[in-house]
Amino acid sequence: MAYGFDNLMVLDHPLVQHKMSILRSTDTGKKKFTELVDEITSLVTYEATRELPLEPVQVTTPLTNATFARMAGDQPVIVPILRAGLGMLDGISRLIPNARVGFLGMFRDEETFEPQPYYEKFPKGLDTAPIFVVDPMLATGGSATAGISFIKRQGGRDIKVMCIVAARRGVQTVLDAHPDVKIYAAAFDRDLTPNAYITPGLGDAGDRLFGTL
Ligand code: PRP
Ligand code: URA
Repeated sequence: MAYGFDNLMVLDHPLVQHKMSILRSTDTGKKKFTELVDEITSLVTYEATRELPLEPVQVTTPLTNATFARMAGDQPVIVPILRAGLGMLDGISRLIPNARVGFLGMFRDEETFEPQPYYEKFPKGLDTAPIFVVDPMLATGGSATAGISFIKRQGGRDIKVMCIVAARRGVQTVLDAHPDVKIYAAAFDRDLTPNAYITPGLGDAGDRLFGTL
């Protein structure tokens, strides 16, 4: 779909590009940063939910009866990867209010960059639910890859990853390990710094969201 990856979708919408340019800036403070992550997440959700199943529904309008469509199948499950993934939870939940939420706590070791899991809590029925893993930054891809493996061990099958910035290395790593997964991103950056930050990137998403700079 994008940048040579079949299972990567990058939103090229003008509104997303405009909001991303503000989000990335060091001039953008905590309040505005949080609002923008929320808004951009809703726009990414619009694309990431395109394959959700529908079923016919009869509706009586003020003029007539007609057949329309409504969402069908299992309630989706949203899995924010703590902590920065929490910044995306409202933006996706607003558009899928009946979704259930699972939590996966994971941080990157500052020296090895390896993901360290520290918390998990999932709703039942992962095996048949559409699952949306949300985490703003896909850098080395270690956290997302480990998170997806964890969800699969709990029975999850239909998994999509939503992020704000995806780096080439992270996309490659996730799709090598999980070729059945689709990634949806608001932006694609080619490089990582030597300490595995995405560049040009936006810095540390968790720190900017929660004011722990
Ligand atoms: C950030 C980000 C991802 C991870 C991405 O989390 O939110 O989870 O790093 O890096 P990776 O692709 O190289 O694994 P971080 O470890 O900083 O934890 P935080 O969310 O608590 O800030
Ligand atoms: N995590 C972040 O928050 N930012 C990066 O650039 C990489 C990992």
